[in-house]
Amino acid sequence: MTEQEAPENLSYDTFAASVQRSLALEEDIQKNPRRHRVLTGDRPTGDLHIGHLFGSLLNRVRLAKLGVDSFIVIADYQVLTDRDVFDQIAECTVNLAIDYIASGLDPDSGNVFIFPHSAVPELNQLLLPFLNLVSLAELERNPTVKEEIEAAKTARMNAGMFTYPVHQAADILFCKSTAIPVGKDQLPHIELTRTIARRFNTRYAPNNPVFPEPQGLLSNAPTILGLDGGKKMSKSRNNSIPLKATEDETAKIIKTATTDSERLITYEPQRRPQVANLLDLASFTSGATPEKIAETIGNGGSGKLKEYLTEHLNAFLRPLRAKRADLEKDLPYVRKSLDKGIEKARAVGEQTLKEVREAMNMYR
Ligand code: TRP
Repeated sequence: MTEQEAPENLSYDTFAASVQRSLALEEDIQKNPRRHRVLTGDRPTGDLHIGHLFGSLLNRVRLAKLGVDSFIVIADYQVLTDRDVFDQIAECTVNLAIDYIASGLDPDSGNVFIFPHSAVPELNQLLLPFLNLVSLAELERNPTVKEEIEAAKTARMNAGMFTYPVHQAADILFCKSTAIPVGKDQLPHIELTRTIARRFNTRYAPNNPVFPEPQGLLSNAPTILGLDGGKKMSKSRNNSIPLKATEDETAKIIKTATTDSERLITYEPQRRPQVANLLDLASFTSGATPEKIAETIGNGGSGKLKEYLTEHLNAFLRPLRAKRADLEKDLPYVRKSLDKGIEKARAVGEQTLKEVREAMNMYR
């Protein structure tokens, strides 16, 4: 047996090429939803908020309703890469599933499968062969890993964090997904996943490729800013509106949102990002364009804008929140839904792992 060659250099693809591929992919999904399989997910670290809802959840719901097979991974193992707390993981997993189902991902539809990846050993086993297909230098160059390395000043960086993009590749490839709904910042992960799929096929299965090369499906939803004027809405920055917040809590949080001192409300995302952010949210929830809403509010100032947003956001979230409350009272249903997701993921993963082991000439 010859020694394996070091993997050739991975170039983190150009953005323009990814955009082009994403547009073509969206078109094909519209035409042939059943030929596609989506994988997405989140780490179970807390409540989902309206940034998740408008940034990604509603897009997932849209794809699922088109009939696309939708695998939703609750990345519980990934939580351990940067946190010591693990006593609440199971609870957070159930809570995340509740947020998903309340948002419209329907585990009874027959094409939506929600599962924690720790419950799918077949998925995790793919990590071993995949780790050999990536070089340390490539992982070091991955922008997210790089950020973490800088943040941790190397001392506290563990190998799980260093290799988590490979674990994510296992999440994406175990079910042979074709489309990964992502934001721009996640594209390097998709690029790495594509490279792993390609290298696996070339090295072990040149005549009968095992993995499709999945593509990022870029969403055109704007990034929702934090209500403190921060760059991104995020739970850890305390600048978000959780889906499960009450109507009063929602009103309170909106009242504290940072705006600017100009009385006349106008939609100018570049010059007035915070006001534009509130107008975007108001637009998602009322259906009117942000420009039209700005015109309606006119000289009413940010006070009036906030009232408008509170009213429409609460009305928009009312059915979701009612569903959420019902689900909280019916945990056996939520658990049964997760069990169904796990069962499906394991069946699919078992088949993929079988093909992988055969391609690699493993015993049996
Ligand atoms: N990294 C994602 C997060 O932080 C969760 C995740 C794990 C994921 N595996 C994935 C997302 C695969 C998309 C595809 O929330």
